[in-house]
Amino acid sequence: MKDTIILAIETSCDETAVAIIKNGKEVLANVVSTQIPTHQKFGGVVPEVASRKHLEMMNIVVSEALNKANLNFDDLTHIAVTYGPGLVGALLVGVSCAKALAFASDKPLIGVNHIEGHVYANFLVHKEINLPVICLIVSGGHTNIVKIVEHGKYEFIGQTRDDAAGEAFDKVARSLGLAYPGGPEIQKRAELGCKDAIDFPRSWLEAGSYDFSFSGLKSAVLNYLNQCKMKDIEINTENVAASFQSAVIEVLITKTINAALESEIDTILLAGGVSANSALREEMTLKAKEKGIKVLYPQIEFCTDNAAMIGAAAHYKAIRKEYADLDLNANPNLKF
Ligand code: KG4
Ligand code: ZN
Repeated sequence: MKDTIILAIETSCDETAVAIIKNGKEVLANVVSTQIPTHQKFGGVVPEVASRKHLEMMNIVVSEALNKANLNFDDLTHIAVTYGPGLVGALLVGVSCAKALAFASDKPLIGVNHIEGHVYANFLVHKEINLPVICLIVSGGHTNIVKIVEHGKYEFIGQTRDDAAGEAFDKVARSLGLAYPGGPEIQKRAELGCKDAIDFPRSWLEAGSYDFSFSGLKSAVLNYLNQCKMKDIEINTENVAASFQSAVIEVLITKTINAALESEIDTILLAGGVSANSALREEMTLKAKEKGIKVLYPQIEFCTDNAAMIGAAAHYKAIRKEYADLDLNANPNLKF
């Protein structure tokens, strides 16, 4: 197959992102215009505001990506876009833009699942990944363990039954009075605290289950904070952050390694915003190494939302000629 040069668009949440990716690996441009400062005032993403901000930035970010790559539309081979899951209004901005570009430039359109994009951030940055692998996907909306059997073929091993890992980080951060998004804030505080200070519960569920549950842990943290306030005990934010983070990552690490051992797979990939967490990356690497398992993850900029990962996933779809029609619609509840 000849080279692919894919312009990819990602607008599922609060980042307006456009990237240009050559052959699934070479990042010719990667532009991310973040709305985080706007949403911080509200303590979380306001969907209507997100859509309007995407609309303001969409064309600007597309032009910037083309300028950075020193390319024009004729040089592109495909247009790719995240069409779900995410905020419907936000997704629609990217999907409409991608359809217009594909129609006007007569290029094939590729629809990408946002979660699959997170997984492919690994294929973007690592030279060679021998399949099958086990992938832990941890983002603001998802927590899954999947086996990647071959490109585009997945076996679902475990998922969260309530809150996603990132959601738990964000909610606990909020109750500690920390800024949105909570994950990086918790990580910063946790680095200064003692992870054994408070014995928060680990939710293992039934023996042998690879599912997760984080709502009980979130409630335990809230109860602890309320108790402290009632008894007029000073809250040590660093210790709460460290103990909470440790409870989340212990379960993530143990279940992911067990899934790899049971499937006799020697490589684990980490994907999604929470995989930017340094404690998760370091402890997973150490614990997996003891079992002879290698752990791979992308650089931080490709863990959180970006369009480069969408361009990488689209490359493998282009090889399979998995094209979308121009009636492609945003699907906020798209399953992975
Ligand atoms: O993948 P992502 O950027 O967006 C979604 O698809 O949801 O993930 C965002 C989530 C947020 O919940 C954020 O708090 C969390 O990833 N996150 C982190 C860290 N950086 C981002 N969680 C823990 N530690 C981090 N360093
Ligand atoms: Zn994401």
